[in-house]
Amino acid sequence: MNPQAEELNVVLKAEGRVALKLLSERGKSIFFPRKGLVAQGLEARGKAINASIGEAKEDNGSPLRLMSLANLVELDPAQIFTYAPSFGEPALRDKWQAMIREKNPSLGNTEISRPVVTNALTHGLSVAAYLFANEGDEIILPEHYWGNYRLVFSEACGAVLKTFPTFTEGGRNAEFNISGLSAQLKSPGEKKILLFNFPNNPTGYTITEQEAENIVEAIHSAAQSGKTILVITDDAYFGLVYKNGVFTESLFARFANLHENILACKLDGATKEDYAWGFRVGFITFAGKGLSKKALAVLEDKAAGRVRGSISNTSHLSQSLLLAAYQDASYKGEKERARKLLKSRFEAVAAELERHEEYKEEFEALPFNSGYFMCVKLKKGDAEAVRQRLLSRYDTGVIALGSLIRVAYSCLPQNQIAALFANLYAACREL
Ligand SMILES: Cc1ncc(COP(=O)(O)O)c(C=O)c1O
Repeated sequence: MNPQAEELNVVLKAEGRVALKLLSERGKSIFFPRKGLVAQGLEARGKAINASIGEAKEDNGSPLRLMSLANLVELDPAQIFTYAPSFGEPALRDKWQAMIREKNPSLGNTEISRPVVTNALTHGLSVAAYLFANEGDEIILPEHYWGNYRLVFSEACGAVLKTFPTFTEGGRNAEFNISGLSAQLKSPGEKKILLFNFPNNPTGYTITEQEAENIVEAIHSAAQSGKTILVITDDAYFGLVYKNGVFTESLFARFANLHENILACKLDGATKEDYAWGFRVGFITFAGKGLSKKALAVLEDKAAGRVRGSISNTSHLSQSLLLAAYQDASYKGEKERARKLLKSRFEAVAAELERHEEYKEEFEALPFNSGYFMCVKLKKGDAEAVRQRLLSRYDTGVIALGSLIRVAYSCLPQNQIAALFANLYAACREL
């Protein structure tokens, strides 16, 4: 093992034991190479003659640039064209950390790591998978999950997705299946990796406040009984909650200081939260009871080491644009407008299902209260056949997932919602 990785692991052994226990073999080996090029570049910074940087400069020291690009953006060229650090733009990291606290007031003063910038959430998830998942490790998660987890965790790392039914019985009024989660937690093996995604893709469900407490209790009791637990939260759709009584914080906040046997790892970012899908900016953040500041910094180094070794760094242009938006006085108001628009579509979907009792003959909605999506379960027949029929006869596109149809109402103007469900009903009846 590289001595730089060994140095990091020594810190974890003393000040972040749970993290060392949970790291994969690759996670133990990875480090951010502070002693190589990076260190030499830092030492050269500010020298009159600095021939250490892998970028090109104009004679006046500003980035050498093409005006056909520079003219498109009003930011300082130094915030656009140059490389961002592998850890991410420092001011953006600090701003995002402050925003995590603001959005999750129950964190209080709990120590959390400085977020490391990733190439949006998919990349953040794959950094987490690299750091923690060994070949054959199980990832415990509810059965309705974002299909890309298979590529990220199973195909890339050889981990096994171990699901439990998301809901108890009960149609639209079903509840989150705590006992399914508990049973998986109690299965043999000390190391447990959990993956939560609320608001959820594909169901559009977020746990209620009570369910959040039940989840915390179940995991706490497993930790108490000696399990070592990594709780990964994929908070892609954070903030898009439309009903009272639904849990509005990230579960990360609940696990950040709960038990010495629990490490929390949060993936979030601008993609959905800030309607900036193509910007590719996300963050990975760690916390856990008993982890010192130094131990958290080690995890930042390991994450940034993986960023360095996979994409080197994330778009500086995207990071600078987002930082400017976060500092803009109108940012919060604009986000609220967007959330309200999505909420109005959510309400239109709920009202439409309410209005048409007959739809229940063909399909029933799974519980939904948040996010971009909702799912209906077909009473009979094959979702893929219904999807094909919707395409060929009804000029309507949806996603088929086994016996579920996923509807992304987030992208529908309100005046198309009634027609969508009428078409779905008609297609189901024909088949
Ligand atoms: C649950 C979930 N996580 C992560 C992502 C990926 O986000 P990003 O585009 O930031 O990689 C998506 C995108 O569909 C998602 O639904």
